[in-house]
Amino acid sequence: MPKKRLYIKTFGCQMNENDSEKVFLLLADEYELTSHPEEANLILINTCSVREKPQHKVYSEVGRYKELKKRKKNLVLGIMGCVAQQEGEKLLDRLPYIDLILGTQGFYFIKEALKTLEKEKKPVIITELKPHFIPPLVLSNNTSFSSERVTAFVTIMQGCDNFCSYCIVPYVRGREISRPPEDILKEVETLVKSGVKEVTLLGQNVNSYGKKEKDFPDFAELLRMISEIEGLWRIRFTTSHPKDLSEKLIQEIAENPKVCKHLHLPLQAGSNRILKKMNRKYTKEEYLAKVERLRSLIPQIALTTDLIVGFPGETEEDFKETLEMLETIRYHEIFSFKYSDRPFTLAKGLSEKISEEVKERRLAEVHRVQEKITQEIYQSYVGKEVEVLVEGLSKKSSSFLTGRTTTNVIVNFSSPRLDLKGALVKVFIEEAGKHSLKGRYLETVKI
Ligand code: 5AD
Ligand code: SF4
Repeated sequence: MPKKRLYIKTFGCQMNENDSEKVFLLLADEYELTSHPEEANLILINTCSVREKPQHKVYSEVGRYKELKKRKKNLVLGIMGCVAQQEGEKLLDRLPYIDLILGTQGFYFIKEALKTLEKEKKPVIITELKPHFIPPLVLSNNTSFSSERVTAFVTIMQGCDNFCSYCIVPYVRGREISRPPEDILKEVETLVKSGVKEVTLLGQNVNSYGKKEKDFPDFAELLRMISEIEGLWRIRFTTSHPKDLSEKLIQEIAENPKVCKHLHLPLQAGSNRILKKMNRKYTKEEYLAKVERLRSLIPQIALTTDLIVGFPGETEEDFKETLEMLETIRYHEIFSFKYSDRPFTLAKGLSEKISEEVKERRLAEVHRVQEKITQEIYQSYVGKEVEVLVEGLSKKSSSFLTGRTTTNVIVNFSSPRLDLKGALVKVFIEEAGKHSLKGRYLETVKI
């Protein structure tokens, strides 16, 4: 029988990308992927609700398929991910033509949901969040979803117990659940067998991996276990909560040659008053002490962060402290957002909301300060040799290769050979761009 066609559109974070791949793998015996929604039998939209903006994008995306649904009687339209989890049945009020609503655990039951839909001919909604849900092991064959990649994501835990006051994640992803280490190892081994050289371990708060389970390794131990897999060259991970960044983990990053020298360590705000209102459970002094410790053991480590501007009650003084932290810490890159109210969260109920105009201005200011720092840091790579894991041809120019340094900086480089995908090479950096470096191939380290 010819396979049916599946179109998946993914919004949001890397975990969503990973979930989309899993959904595809669960359906792979019956479906093949298409990049044209018009020819799909099944359209899945994997949604994000972490901020207001991405959630709005979801509604306009779904709206695009209304006409198509009318024309194609058998087309199945499904919404998965965080908005599906957040809104559940309510989505049908606004978008009555949806067939499937699968939450952040519910998508694992896509096959059952499709069967029920066929039988009952009415929308199927799965949004239960079980606190002890163990996600089934879904192994990747690394060919059909993204062709023969060198890097891959591996979700090691789901959910979050931290309840930062602005954040919807604990409500839409549920309580923190760590996947069994055997499953994680099996998943990484399978990926490595299919040619993957670098994995990024995903979780809302990877630093607390295993803490709730009796016989699980902690995160530093898990890193060590994964790094023992032969053929795996690099390990990255995200996201780390500063309060759970332990001395043991800092030492593991320092000592384990496979662990990349980059840490995404969301600061969110630079003022202790705001950090407290955000329920982040660290002060800026504690954060700075961890940065200092990291840099004393791993001088070359690159740091990146997430920042929120315009949290309720944020004064000009508070905001200045955020800017000062940027100057003090000197991140490689930052991801900054204007605060937006999210359903269920504590911050939504706070008074002293900041005007759009002020948020806009503060965001622009943050960008201006950081742009200069990023430029200076990127400039400091010029004239140096770096090691790059080649991910393929550069998107901008097919006569260039592209990859990243251990510090997670994108490098595009010229090379006499272009068939080096998957190799670790030395590159001489000649130029710094806004968000990448440019260089030329020197030699192959490993292939
Ligand atoms: N408003 C703005 N930014 C937010 N983030 C999370 N919730 C909100 C919100 N309500 C940002 C945080 C987080 C990133 C993924 O999104 O910086 O680290
Ligand atoms: Fe949200 Fe805080 Fe959990 Fe991150 S740690 S997912 S910001 S609640």
